[in-house]
Amino acid sequence: MILDFTQLPARDAYNWMVNSITPRPIAWVSTISAEGKTNLAPFSFFQGVCAHPPTVIFCGAHDRAGKKKDSVVNVEQVPEFVVNLVPYALRETMNQTAAPLPHGESEFEKFQIATTPSQHIRPPRVANAPIAFECKLDRIVELGAGPLGSSVVFGTILCMHVSEAVLNEHGLIDPVKLDTIGRMGGDFYTRTTELFTIKRPT
Ligand SMILES: Cc1cc2nc3c(=O)[nH]c(=O)nc-3n(C[C@H](O)[C@H](O)[C@H](O)COP(=O)(O)O)c2cc1C
Repeated sequence: MILDFTQLPARDAYNWMVNSITPRPIAWVSTISAEGKTNLAPFSFFQGVCAHPPTVIFCGAHDRAGKKKDSVVNVEQVPEFVVNLVPYALRETMNQTAAPLPHGESEFEKFQIATTPSQHIRPPRVANAPIAFECKLDRIVELGAGPLGSSVVFGTILCMHVSEAVLNEHGLIDPVKLDTIGRMGGDFYTRTTELFTIKRPT
């Protein structure tokens, strides 16, 4: 079977992509509006893309009306965001924050998610996230226009918070303790409980 993406409707292209590009890490992004209202939402079109400068991206797809996600609108107003990582224990809370709330209504307040102030930027971080990256906006690249177009948000990492609870005896991140989840297609997620190692060829 071969799918010709030059002919596929955008919704179908989206479905084939999200069901095959798996598992995807999840950025749980906190932002703040110009009026000071906080926002929290998950994004699985997320990746680390450069170490020098240390850079992450997340992508806010435009909705059916072609409107930008609140997270993107906020970053345009206050060019800072936190990428919180999502462990298995926070999966339900994370999912709640994907609800389409009216602009200006805070998921932190609505779902009573504990926050901790960030060190360098205004958006707070999720208190119980094992890892959080404080980022300043580098640039936003607009891909396409209208429904399913996307705002690709690039952020430079200013600092990283790591909970002691996910470190091993050498002070390094223990993947078992981290217990992050990944996004699959449909309603599926994966949990990082079955890990294996492979030595890279030299
Ligand atoms: C696990 C998960 C991953 C998601 N990934 C994305 C994504 O990569 N891009 C996107 O636009 N929406 C994604 N969504 C949907 C957004 O979280 C949802 O539209 C949310 O309401 C956006 O919030 P905002 O408007 O406050 O920014 C995802 C939802 C979930 C549950």
